[in-house]
Amino acid sequence: MTTSTTDLKAFLAEARRSTNAVLETWCDRARREIPGPVGQAIAYSLSAPGKRLRPALVLALYQELGGNGDVSEIAAAVEVVHTYSLVHDDLPCMDNDDLRRGRPTTHRQFDVATAGEAGLAMVPLAARVLAAGCTRLGCSDEVLGRVAAELFRAAGAAGMIGGQVLDLEAEGRPVAIEYLREIHRRKTGALIEASAVIGAIAGGAAPSRLAAVRAWGREVGVAFQIADDVLDTTATSQELGKTAGKDARQRKATFATLLGPEAAMEEARARIDRAIALLGESGIDSSLLQGLANFIVNRRS
Ligand code: IPE
Ligand code: IPE
Ligand code: MG
Ligand code: MG
Ligand code: MG
Repeated sequence: MTTSTTDLKAFLAEARRSTNAVLETWCDRARREIPGPVGQAIAYSLSAPGKRLRPALVLALYQELGGNGDVSEIAAAVEVVHTYSLVHDDLPCMDNDDLRRGRPTTHRQFDVATAGEAGLAMVPLAARVLAAGCTRLGCSDEVLGRVAAELFRAAGAAGMIGGQVLDLEAEGRPVAIEYLREIHRRKTGALIEASAVIGAIAGGAAPSRLAAVRAWGREVGVAFQIADDVLDTTATSQELGKTAGKDARQRKATFATLLGPEAAMEEARARIDRAIALLGESGIDSSLLQGLANFIVNRRS
């Protein structure tokens, strides 16, 4: 059976709805616990209309590997990490962006110090959301430990933070394509891979299946950032909700500049095909996961 475009849209809409519902509660809590602009900035960033794609991956893998509980708060924890990374990515010392999710970036809406602190405060917040999510789902301490290690390893020096450092260092310099693949695997791929793996762990996946899910997430994660690079050159700011054409102006190393948009998308599609084949080989026959993987390269925002 195939997942139709309508089914995929409905799945993504439901993932957005459940993630937003969880985040709303945590926004209220952040405003109460951190009075003043930092609490407001956390709520502002978390309530902006993102695609909620990483939570959707957690939900999808959980469901497709047999889970039938409420994993939405665990999924939202990944979104908190992702949102913090966007707040910091937009700062003047990083990509210096004014527009995010169709709204002024957090440091534009507040100020740089507030955005910096709000981003930092979202890291321990994510840990609390994750712990609450594991309680809500009734996970064992062992599972909580495994998903926490997965999330924060992906967010750290070997993953997202390390990738962001390499991304900034590569600005305005010629870099080899293999090196760019490593930057993308770390800055964006690691958290996407972790989203898939966390969903699978929470769903009780056996180790052999977990390895296939990790390989799937790794391919999909790099493909996601390739598509992001290409969209920066082919979509409008209105479509993206962020400033289009920004990478060239900042002399970023991207797949679009190194390979050209067509060859870049060819690589992204090849990765998606490989990802889908990997799951098939491990006996995970999921049209939802195929649909999500394809969406990642076919999206317009
Ligand atoms: C943007 O991520 C940042 C990258 C890692 C490329 P998304 O495209 O998922 O952004 P939102 O969450 O929908 O705003
Ligand atoms: C962002 O990559 C990666 C992280 C936030 C970790 P980009 O800098 O390409 O993301 P956008 O294009 O600003 O969303
Ligand atoms: Mg960046
Ligand atoms: Mg950026
Ligand atoms: Mg980008």
